[in-house]
Amino acid sequence: MKALVLSGGKGTRLRPLTFTCAKQLIPVANKPILGYVLDQVASTTIKKVGIITAPETGQFVKDYVKDGSNWGLKAEYIPQEPLGLAHAVKTAKRFLGQDSFVMCLGDNVTGQGLNTFVKKFKNEKLDALIILKEVENPSSFGIAQLDEKGNITKLVEKPKTPMGNLAIIGTYLFTNKVHQAIERIKPSGRGELEITDAIQEMMNMGFKVKAEILNSWWLDTGKKDDILSANAKILDSYIEFDVKGEVINSTLDGRVKVEPGAKIVNSTIRGPCALGKGVVIENSFIGPYTSVGNCSSIINSNVEYCVIQENVTVKDVERLEDSLIGKNAKVSRNQRNRTIKLHIGDFSEVEV
Ligand code: TTP
Repeated sequence: MKALVLSGGKGTRLRPLTFTCAKQLIPVANKPILGYVLDQVASTTIKKVGIITAPETGQFVKDYVKDGSNWGLKAEYIPQEPLGLAHAVKTAKRFLGQDSFVMCLGDNVTGQGLNTFVKKFKNEKLDALIILKEVENPSSFGIAQLDEKGNITKLVEKPKTPMGNLAIIGTYLFTNKVHQAIERIKPSGRGELEITDAIQEMMNMGFKVKAEILNSWWLDTGKKDDILSANAKILDSYIEFDVKGEVINSTLDGRVKVEPGAKIVNSTIRGPCALGKGVVIENSFIGPYTSVGNCSSIINSNVEYCVIQENVTVKDVERLEDSLIGKNAKVSRNQRNRTIKLHIGDFSEVEV
């Protein structure tokens, strides 16, 4: 079996960050989301991973994953124009050959590994296995309708009228029969070859398609608030108290991770929280669910529920909440008593 990890796409909903970075590389708890996806692939017996990349951001992905050996994997790159998830599979046909494969979206994370799904797929000799999770906004996802025995009756991409709330999450397992189905489908109204249509076509062709309901959390990090939720979830799930930096006259409360070279002076840090290498925190309160990337400084400020990337400066900001700050950004105050909310890109400078 191989793995196909989709790390292309347009990332329009995360602009401007995606002008200078692939969205799959946006860090949560100071590690790119794609890293968690590759961790999950690495925990199976799969060794060969094909990585789909987009023209503008492919090099960033290559610089991060390299040859895959950091995960014990052998990575191969497959450039693709972003024309849909089924189009990505079609583009990867040569890499996939006749093999079965697990396909993961490079910006989706779950709290459950892939092994139970691989086992079910093999044991039941399925042609496709899709993973489902209940959602509150079904019109934003591919939705599966099941009968009382749990068999799939129908799949629809982003249904306008509700037909259930079980969304198809970003993990799929296929045999090579998926290629026959993809040959038969046409682009959707938004001009993409949809994987939901390909799976429906597999069912129409009489192939064995089953669904499994995910029994853990799932986060699709397509938008700013999703990144903040994923950051909170990952901090909650994986961060332990582990302080390697210097702490002077400060309180560290709960599960706080501080990497070497960081310096915390006259401040309170309330976990779960992750502070990267060389971070400086001075006269500040860093609240729960915040990640601060390497070499960033937070001075005279209160920060809560934020993802702050590398080399950022936050100074004299009375209250910064629910914000995603790109690399090298500077945020400072020029007025008193105002709460600010930001969604800004790499190299931005904001004074509020
Ligand atoms: P989406 O988030 O659905 O699409 P997108 O990246 O184009 O984002 P936006 O809607 O904000 O413009 O894609 C899900 C995942 O699949 C994501 O990791 C990108 C990847 N992808 C590809 O690799 N190739 C594609 O053709 C598409 C559409 C997505």
